[in-house]
Parts: sequence; structure tokens; C-alpha cells
Amino acid sequence: MDKLLIQGGARLAGTLRVSGAKNAALPILAATLLTEEPMVLSNLPHLHDVTTMLELLGCLGAEVVVDETMEVEITARQLTQLRAPYELVKTMRASFVVLGPLLARFGEAEVSLPGGCAIGARPVDQHLKAFEALGAEITVENGYVRGLAPQGLKGTEFCFDMVTVGGTENVLMAATLAAGTTRICNAAREPEVVDLANCLNAMGARIRGHGTAEIEVEGVKRLHGCSYRVMPDRVEAGTYLIAAAVTGGSVRLTSVDPSTLVAVLDKLRESGAEVRCGGDWIELDMRGLRPRAVDLETAPYPGFPTDMQAQYLALNAVADGSSHISETIFENRFMHVQEINRLGANIELAGPSSAIVHGVEKLRAAPVMATDLRASFSLVVAALVAEGTTLIDRIYHIDRGYETIEEKLTQLGANVQRISGQETG
Ligand code: UD1
Repeated sequence: MDKLLIQGGARLAGTLRVSGAKNAALPILAATLLTEEPMVLSNLPHLHDVTTMLELLGCLGAEVVVDETMEVEITARQLTQLRAPYELVKTMRASFVVLGPLLARFGEAEVSLPGGCAIGARPVDQHLKAFEALGAEITVENGYVRGLAPQGLKGTEFCFDMVTVGGTENVLMAATLAAGTTRICNAAREPEVVDLANCLNAMGARIRGHGTAEIEVEGVKRLHGCSYRVMPDRVEAGTYLIAAAVTGGSVRLTSVDPSTLVAVLDKLRESGAEVRCGGDWIELDMRGLRPRAVDLETAPYPGFPTDMQAQYLALNAVADGSSHISETIFENRFMHVQEINRLGANIELAGPSSAIVHGVEKLRAAPVMATDLRASFSLVVAALVAEGTTLIDRIYHIDRGYETIEEKLTQLGANVQRISGQETG
């Protein structure tokens, strides 16, 4: 199992091109199941999760051709099975979004209940309720969700009990081929949902209101193929901005959409960074300063993203002052706290969903272990400023969400080395 060795102390500086968004790429890949025509997708990130989704599409019988630039052509003309097996779905929760497209186009599907990061219970009850509202018969047996809609799905009004990104995406895809109009209220407004809706509209869907809490989908008989470029990854972008800020450094990000990062850029400014943006670039300069501690609370978009909470907590760990961090989206999303404290941080958990971070002047290297995708990068952020060399174990979590992490960090001047090897304990 690979590990990362990071020698702290380098001030990050340089330019970085942001990759395509994993969380937009995954549902867009699932959307290719909605048409029998070829779909050409570009700007997909080179990530394990993307490969897993391509494998799942292949396993269902879609033809998948990948070229060296990761441009992918997918043709789901005839599928060989309508069952997404446990072996693939367990490794990645996002694969559950194939249920909507399969049900909508074929009137039946069977998808294993998902696995994914160990951050809380993460049920799929909202997805299932919405499919039932669209007229599907849903049963859960032996770890599989089976959906049946032999007469096709029917447009409806559905209100989510809470904001769910995956739920909104699943239902959005299903509604494109339903008979009549579907109104989704309390829909997720995340930019990745908007990117999916834009792709679906490019395939001939009739979706309005994406990016707001009320989405309207007028069902169509069929969708056609198209070429689509996946949006830039706002989480990767925000993560590297935080990494540069914690080291007192400066970074220029290109191929990025600053309008999707407003909440994070506001926090970075509060922490003392100078931030400038253009159409598709962001520059951050920390001018060698120690960051100021800032409070934050995660919230659905456009609030501060839960996927950047752990990284910001690591920045606050070495900031001047104390801060309060509150997590409102997932339970059990403070597993990184214990590990960052191993590096000498002073973070107290104040209940299951909040932490108080007392900034310390210095962290010191220690062996630590990655626990989930975003939390793992918080260890990288901490290691970048820790005195000495930190060994981060179990970085397969990081590899699920961050493309070529050691190359990108090295490009910015960090001292990072990947050690490949077998797990020893
Ligand atoms: C997506 C993102 C993930 C991000 C999260 C929140 C992808 C591939 N992943 O995950 O990186 O952290 O949005 O921004 O896009 N919930 C239920 N029942 C449901 C569905 C969700 O109770 O049927 C709860 C979840 O347990 C969680 C909250 O709703 O507490 C939000 O989950 P959701 O928005 O669905 O997250 P994902 O789509 O899994």
C-alpha cells in the first residue's frame, strides 16, 4: 500500500492547472447510459473513481474507448445486464447514480447498496423515495436495490427532505425520460449538479432551474449523444489554495472557475491571503504570513463545502488564534483530528459535529494514517508545515480524489515522495 513522505517547511509557489471535477465526471459518466448514441467526454480526471465508473459501464455492456488524453467515447447501445454488482458499487458510493438512468431507459435495474468513505451512515432513502414518486416499484433484498417501472417513469412533484447531491443527480437523470413534467424541490444547487444538467440538456433533455432549489424537467422520448467537457474541480482547486496558504506561499491556478469557490475564497481572505481572480484563474498570495484563525460551518452550496472542511481545519491548526469548526452535512467527519493532533496540533472535539482548534506555532512530523478522501489531504496540509518528515499511510484514499498529487505538489516546490509497497500492519 502506497505511502507519502513529506518533508515540511517549503513555501509553495508556482502555477497549477486544475483537473476536471471528479464529482461532476461520475454522474456525467452515468448519464451516458441514457442514450444509445456515442457520448464523447473530455477533461475527465485520471482518478481511480473514474476508472471504477468506466469499469461499471463496461460491465453493464457499454462500449468504452479511452484515448491517451483521457477523452472517452462511451456507447451504451445495447446493455448486456442491468445489474450493478456489489464488487464495484461497494468501492464507490457515487456509482449508485446509475440506478436513475437504467430505470428511466430500460424500466428495470438492480444496483447494490453503496459503500464509499466511512463518513457516517450515508443512506440512500431519499433516492428511493423519489424513484417511488416517479412510479417505480422499489424493493431492497440481499443488499441490492431493485427498481421496476415496466410502463416507464411518470413525471411528478418531489420534495427532498434534505439537500442531497447524489439524490438530486439520480432523480434528475431519471426524470429526463419520464412521461410528463417532474418538479424537484429542495434540490441540491451544487455546481456539479448544474454541470450534469448542462450535459443532459446538450443530450436533448429539457431541464430548467438547475442551480436553484427548484428544478423542472420536461420528459422527452429519447436523448441523443453529444460531446461534453467536464467542469474544473473546485475541491481540488480549493485544496491547493489552502495548501499554498498554510505554507505562507503563493500560487496561480489555471483552468478553474472562481465563481464556484466564493465561500472558500472569502475564508482565505479572512485568514489573511490576498486573492485575485479572472475568468478562469485564481491567484493567492499569503506573503509569508502566518494565517489568522477563522470560524467556519459547512453547508450545502453556496455555503462552505464539507469536502474542504478537513483541509481548512489543518490550516487553522497552525493559525494565529482559536477557531470553531462546525460540520453540518456528515456525521463522523472529524476522523482527521486525532491524526493532526499526533503532529502536535491542539484540537478538541466539542461533540460529534464540531471542533475547537487552538492554533499552535509549530507542528512536528510523526507517522499518520489517512482515513477518508478529504481528511487525508488535511494530513498533507499539516505535513507541509510540520518540522521534519511526515509519513502518511493509506494514501489510496487521497488517490481516489486527487490526480497525481505528488507531481502537483512537487511542481509547487514541496518535498514529497511516494513510497510504493505492501501494507505491513
Ligand atoms: C456528494 C459528493 C461528496 C460531498 C457531498 C456533500 C459526489 C460523488 N460526492 O456526496 O463529495 O461531500 O455530496 O456535498 O458527488 N442523505 C440521506 N439520505 C439520502 C441521501 C443523502 O440521509 O438518500 C444524507 C447523507 O447521509 C448526508 C447528506 O444527506 O448526511 C448529504 O449527502 P449527499 O449530498 O447525498 O452526498 P453524496 O451525494 O453522497
